[in-house]
Amino acid sequence: MKIAVLPGDGIGTEIVAEAVKVLNVLGLKFEMETALVGGAAYEAHGHPLPEATLKLAQASDAILFGAVGDWKYDKLERALRPEQAILGLRKNLGLFANFRPAICYEQLVDASSLKPELIAGLDILIIRELTGDIYFGQPRGRRVATDGHFPGAEEAFDTMRYSRPEIERIAHVAFQAARKRGKHVTSVDKANVLETFQLWKDVLTEIGAQYPDVTLDHMYVDNAAMQLVKKPKFFDVVVTGNMFGDILSDEAAMLTGSIGMLPSASLNAKNQGLYEPSHGSAPDIAGKGVANPLATILSAAMMLRFSLNQAEAADRIEVAVKKVLAQGLRTPDIYSEGTTKVGTREMGEAVVKALG
Ligand code: IPM
Ligand code: MG
Repeated sequence: MKIAVLPGDGIGTEIVAEAVKVLNVLGLKFEMETALVGGAAYEAHGHPLPEATLKLAQASDAILFGAVGDWKYDKLERALRPEQAILGLRKNLGLFANFRPAICYEQLVDASSLKPELIAGLDILIIRELTGDIYFGQPRGRRVATDGHFPGAEEAFDTMRYSRPEIERIAHVAFQAARKRGKHVTSVDKANVLETFQLWKDVLTEIGAQYPDVTLDHMYVDNAAMQLVKKPKFFDVVVTGNMFGDILSDEAAMLTGSIGMLPSASLNAKNQGLYEPSHGSAPDIAGKGVANPLATILSAAMMLRFSLNQAEAADRIEVAVKKVLAQGLRTPDIYSEGTTKVGTREMGEAVVKALG
């Protein structure tokens, strides 16, 4: 079992270090190799995704990823910005299926900005298509407009597009995931306006017919954004395109009160996967030892389950995380009165201890 460890920038190094500690005490044999990615790789090698890092990722069964990005790179040309590392990994490894669970932990119901009764027991799985849509669609660029409202003016354009097979494969992923949980898929689209999402809706309906045991409903993205805060427990599995999924997954994450708790997985057809916390590099708190490592530790659990075939070890980690929450340990992002505030390292060590 070979794991590429890519801590990245900001709090990435601190939180990944804790997840590695947890992996090391499971009694399993991993080959772990660390490499630079994002801004850190740009500083050292002049590129956010150096050839060596990409090669290592391709040769591994799984990638444990921290986070990339810092405001100081905002002025770099797009191809050299830290975010390109994550987009490059998704594209080169074909990581088309992104799983973003939004789970409300019992002990953290008060951390949400929504009323506890709305989110207690919340367990949504957002499945975001990750290698298509307007993120990767060609052509894109800048030019002088020859038509439109202002011919002759500078304009920029991107292309939203999906092919039928791209939609089919993510639809299967969603229905199969739903079978293992609430058997309810909500497909989010904008079929009332966009051709791309009319095809999306048609294909989802067709594939849905192959899963008669799973309920399928369709929702426009604007309504989905509203229903997520109005009646979040309506949702079980949400499947949507790359851009809508980017937006709705942040919204869903925040329903739970702390994005610091949420893991994610991005898989290709061979179950090779990239595992990362749902949050970003948080440069404002980097190096202070206060970042919440639990999302990364839970991402390591997802990695064991999805890419490394070690479901039992994954369960052990998830139980240990619940244990430390029950002990009242909290990093500042999830702290509330009456609990014990701890730092990144103490939280990681508490999980190690709770593994028994
Ligand atoms: C995410 C992030 C990325 C995305 C950025 C960093 C490119 O927001 O993983 O959700 O938009 O996909
Ligand atoms: Mg995002």
